[in-house]
Amino acid sequence: MKEPPNFLQRFHGTIAAQDRMRMFRQKPATIWLTGLSGAGKSTLAFALEAQLIALGHACYVLDGDNVRHGLASDLGFAREDRRENIRRVAHVAQLMNDAGLIVITALISPIREDREMAREIIGPDKFVETYVSASLATCQSRDPKGLYAKARSGEISSFTGVSAPYEAPDAPELRVDTGTLSPAESVAQIFSYLRDHCLETAAQPAVHTARA
Ligand code: ADX
Repeated sequence: MKEPPNFLQRFHGTIAAQDRMRMFRQKPATIWLTGLSGAGKSTLAFALEAQLIALGHACYVLDGDNVRHGLASDLGFAREDRRENIRRVAHVAQLMNDAGLIVITALISPIREDREMAREIIGPDKFVETYVSASLATCQSRDPKGLYAKARSGEISSFTGVSAPYEAPDAPELRVDTGTLSPAESVAQIFSYLRDHCLETAAQPAVHTARA
């Protein structure tokens, strides 16, 4: 990774993380969804976002297909391009977490080492690796964008699961099996993790407002 020039300084504002936690009634975190194309990452990400916003929580989805229209529009699907895509999204997620938001990312992020890089950038205390698990056969039969058919015919190369690898997480914080659970059940599973770890509720305040 490229280092910044050594004359660059860091400036720190006067707002503490605790101030933002109090303002948003939540601890920031990044729900890092990983899984095959068609496993349901985007569906779950946007449904979870809608649920959190409806409850007054501040969150935002960084979706692979969307960031590839701007932030990552110069990147393709070669090994190094995917790594750079993940590096950029991880840094944006880190900044959004710093701003106090809950971030949900929806990237295939197929390589373990690249997800570990994201964990380091975001911070292990905020990174919630979530394996959106569905078999390749299930994803191929869903084929919502018709991409598996194109990958099989050779029209698209280096397609994850067909002609490029997917390394499933060994020990994710969460595993959501969309092959057996409904979308609503899958969202509920992630929501309950957030409720237990990040969201302030009347019964169980997750955020301590006292400043050091
Ligand atoms: S990642 O591997 O770099 O994490 P990302 O999640 O951003 O991938 O983008 C995946 C999306 O790009 C897929 O949902 C699909 O719509 C599209 N896509 C186009 N070509 C490929 C490919 N060769 N492999 C995987 N996804 C592809």
